[in-house]
Amino acid sequence: MISARNIGKFFDMGGTRTQVLRDVSIDIEQGEFLSIVGRSGSGKTTLLNVLSTLVKPDKGEVYYGKKLLTAPSSSSSLNSLRKSDFAVIFQFHHLLPYLSVLQNTLLPFMRSFRPVPREIVAKAKKTLERIGLGDKCDRLPGNLSGGEQQRVAIARAMVKSARVLFADEPTGSLDKVTGEEIMNLLAELHREGMTIIMVTHEPQYARQAQRTVELSDGRVVH
Ligand SMILES: Nc1ncnc2c1ncn2[C@@H]1O[C@H](COP(=O)(O)OP(=O)(O)O)[C@@H](O)[C@H]1O
Ligand SMILES: [Mg+2]
Repeated sequence: MISARNIGKFFDMGGTRTQVLRDVSIDIEQGEFLSIVGRSGSGKTTLLNVLSTLVKPDKGEVYYGKKLLTAPSSSSSLNSLRKSDFAVIFQFHHLLPYLSVLQNTLLPFMRSFRPVPREIVAKAKKTLERIGLGDKCDRLPGNLSGGEQQRVAIARAMVKSARVLFADEPTGSLDKVTGEEIMNLLAELHREGMTIIMVTHEPQYARQAQRTVELSDGRVVH
């Protein structure tokens, strides 16, 4: 479903050019739950961002099905496909602080001057109920715990029916119990058919994935 071929990525810092990804190739099947592990600085976040097209690689290609995501200038149909099919969650949840829980969940559907379709709002409320936030729709993110904020970020991916979820250390800022709750939710989404690519440095969570890729110094070593 997603295929990365010979990815290379460099960063320039203080005049020196360092290679952060070296010849990385990965194939991810539709419906797969993949974890990416490795030490801090090994290139996990950069790889995830290249796969999700947040970051352009300097070498190599990323395909989504037969479509080349890394084309020099990607077409608008490709952009909208990527926007509708991909969702990203982070260690810190990147919710907008001045929007309510419900509005944050609806964010992918908010366009200026156009109301969000009623059926989408209903779906968002249902989703928030399903994940235990039904009574917190009108709260601001600042009034939620870390785990609740992460669930809102996941609800956003669920409401837009993302096909692929990219998660960068989604349990990284949570205590053990809350981290396990988030992992259970990801496992549920995986059972329902979502493809999940998760960066983690916690071995017990990496084991919950079907397959683990280990990076070291920008290379796949396992
Ligand atoms: N935007 C950037 N500019 C310069 N260097 C970066 C940038 N992003 C990441 N790096 C460097 O690339 C290396 C890999 O970073 P990252 O992919 O975040 O690793 P990980 O997620 O495994 O900790 C690190 O040495 C980091 O400092
Ligand atoms: Mg990282």
